[in-house]
Amino acid sequence: MTDAAPPPGKFMIDPYLEWAAREGVPVHTDFGLDLKRLEVGPWPRFGARGAIVHARGRGDFMTIFLLELPPGGKSAPLRHLYEEAVIVLGGQGGASVRGADGARHSFEWGPNSVFAPPLNCAHQYFNASGVEPARLAICCNMPAVLNLFRSEAFIFDNPFAFADREGPASHFRGEGDFIPVRAGKHMWETNFVPDANHLELRGWAARGVGASHVQLILADSILHAHISEMPVGTYKKAHRHGPDVHVFCLSGEGFSLFWNEGDADFIRVDWTPGWVFAPEDMMYHQHFNTSAERTRYIAIGHGSVRYPFTQNMWKVYRGVDVDVKSGGNQIEYANQDPRVHAMFCAELAKKGIGARMDGVFPRAAG
Ligand SMILES: [Fe+2]
Repeated sequence: MTDAAPPPGKFMIDPYLEWAAREGVPVHTDFGLDLKRLEVGPWPRFGARGAIVHARGRGDFMTIFLLELPPGGKSAPLRHLYEEAVIVLGGQGGASVRGADGARHSFEWGPNSVFAPPLNCAHQYFNASGVEPARLAICCNMPAVLNLFRSEAFIFDNPFAFADREGPASHFRGEGDFIPVRAGKHMWETNFVPDANHLELRGWAARGVGASHVQLILADSILHAHISEMPVGTYKKAHRHGPDVHVFCLSGEGFSLFWNEGDADFIRVDWTPGWVFAPEDMMYHQHFNTSAERTRYIAIGHGSVRYPFTQNMWKVYRGVDVDVKSGGNQIEYANQDPRVHAMFCAELAKKGIGARMDGVFPRAAG
């Protein structure tokens, strides 16, 4: 037998990828993708149009289901044993969630809303417009659950009620609880953020000039979620961590650089609202705001600050802002490749914007 000949029987199987192929919708794979423009097709499971989106750094646990609700349309009611965070890419609509105790919760969403039905709670999404379609990005840990149990029926047709995931009813109305921890770890616990582009953030100077941030705890889930903002004329410090952290641009525009230790060149992704990318395992990455306004993104991954789940995420939460020279995974501005700041200033100059890296680089450099 040669290496190329498949052995008899089952061998090297990814049940999630086999399921994804059977769903019959477009599957898009790339480093960075514009979710507002990707082709969608009929998706009977969701009763809408959709696609499956695989960012190259999606890792072992996470994926994106892209859903388009037609004008006046609604998704099929579903409950499932995976956890999801929904990001509204465009459109206006509503959601209905049935709690474990049978109580029905309804709320209205719009652009940049973020919400999460608690684990295995039945839910349905509605497009309120009779004219425009609505697009939702559902970032979820379905691959982890399907590869663990290998049963569609167990995941989508399971009556078990998790009674302790929902929080107060106010968490379905857009209210939440701020839980102070420390810079970079402050938590906002809720099930629904009406506008993630305007949720109050807290400063995290160790990650970059003017950087602000908050961790989200969505429906007490295992999903990591955080919102980050970069002021005009600034960029974050480079850092690295494990895979599966999906970064969704919410506002403004900019670019990100990606590289592995020792690489001669960068991979570059330019982004505007609707773009998503996921850095691959331990790939350095750095985000730059080149717009005339602040820019925000939301990152969704596996392992929340409440339930880190993996050794990698325990390390991330303990020291994502620690200098590599001290055993951490962040590159301080003073130690970065000189091409980085030059590239940033050149991009800003095209738009007549000056760098505002106060305290790090002189403004004249812009
Ligand atoms: Fe990161």
